[in-house]
Amino acid sequence: MIERPKRLSDFIGQERVKKILKVAIESAKKRGEPLDHVLFYGPPGTGKTTLSTIIANELDREIKLVSAPTIERKGDLLGILTSLSEGDVLFIDEIHRLNRAVEETLYSAMEDFRVDVVMGGKRTVSIELAPFTLIGATTRLNLLTPPLRSRFGIVCRLELYTPEEMKEVARRGAQKLNIKLTEGALELLGSCSRGTPRILNQILKRVRDFATVHRWEEVGKEEVEMVLKELGIDSLGLDRLDRKILETIAEVFKGGPVGLTTLATVLKEDPETIENVHEPYLIEMGFIVKTPRGRKLTEKGWKAIGVEGILPLNLFEQS
Ligand SMILES: Nc1ncnc2c1ncn2[C@@H]1O[C@H](COP(=O)(O)OP(=O)(O)OP(=O)(O)O)[C@@H](O)[C@H]1O
Ligand SMILES: [Mg+2]
Repeated sequence: MIERPKRLSDFIGQERVKKILKVAIESAKKRGEPLDHVLFYGPPGTGKTTLSTIIANELDREIKLVSAPTIERKGDLLGILTSLSEGDVLFIDEIHRLNRAVEETLYSAMEDFRVDVVMGGKRTVSIELAPFTLIGATTRLNLLTPPLRSRFGIVCRLELYTPEEMKEVARRGAQKLNIKLTEGALELLGSCSRGTPRILNQILKRVRDFATVHRWEEVGKEEVEMVLKELGIDSLGLDRLDRKILETIAEVFKGGPVGLTTLATVLKEDPETIENVHEPYLIEMGFIVKTPRGRKLTEKGWKAIGVEGILPLNLFEQS
């Protein structure tokens, strides 16, 4: 394991988000009040959980980490909420997956730090909670109900990292794993990891394995290339499914537009995986665009799969 950054100052990138958090944390500490509820959304592996543990560290408070689907009943939530001390952080991952009853209980807990419980089917008792901070994380902001979303005072979108930021994530990871990488190797790792620290850390661990087995003293760009080839990742950071998505839009749908469900059916893949894991990067890289009629391959996308020049008929018709 490459240990997670523990302080805001160790956390690379997401400058805008860090700035907002820094001020909010400082102000909460000065006022002696719990931090406003925070919602993180953005692609998987970009640091939502990490930032949440950092917030608790910076606040000098405990954090309790739970995943929404494990909170099945109102009673489960009540148990969690009453276990918190003043100013503690409750982190709920995949917060778009809360069930109705639990979500509704959360409204008053977030707003007034109290929960109403019906006793014996009749009498309502109001339970007071220690003021706490809820941090919600989701990759699917659009699935959050408006009442829940509006109860978060701080809403932060995490973005994919730039290649330069990723290079620094690689440098940090290499240090933690105690492997020596050249600048060229760090750069390549930064650009092939889809702007996602989790992916970079995974690739880095495979690089370490190779370095150990082949007794590489120092890992250069060529060595990283060798590992990437072994892993089926190309220099643009595309993996097999990314390329299959691009190729399918090109070959089967003549560049699109094609709807997500149709595309998923042809690929025999889960639409959610395509939409949340693969598309954000393909869109970020400018290989595909989302139009009201579906996904379309861009010129850059055609180039990426190496069929530039073979423009499909429908592109000619449009221009
Ligand atoms: N800015 C960063 N600097 C260094 N390492 C990072 C950074 N962001 C994330 N990481 C590392 O990447 C990995 C994934 O981060 P994390 O688990 O926080 O992502 P996440 O957004 O919560 O993902 P998911 O949506 O899948 O829950 C962790 O190992 C973490 O240490
Ligand atoms: Mg997470």
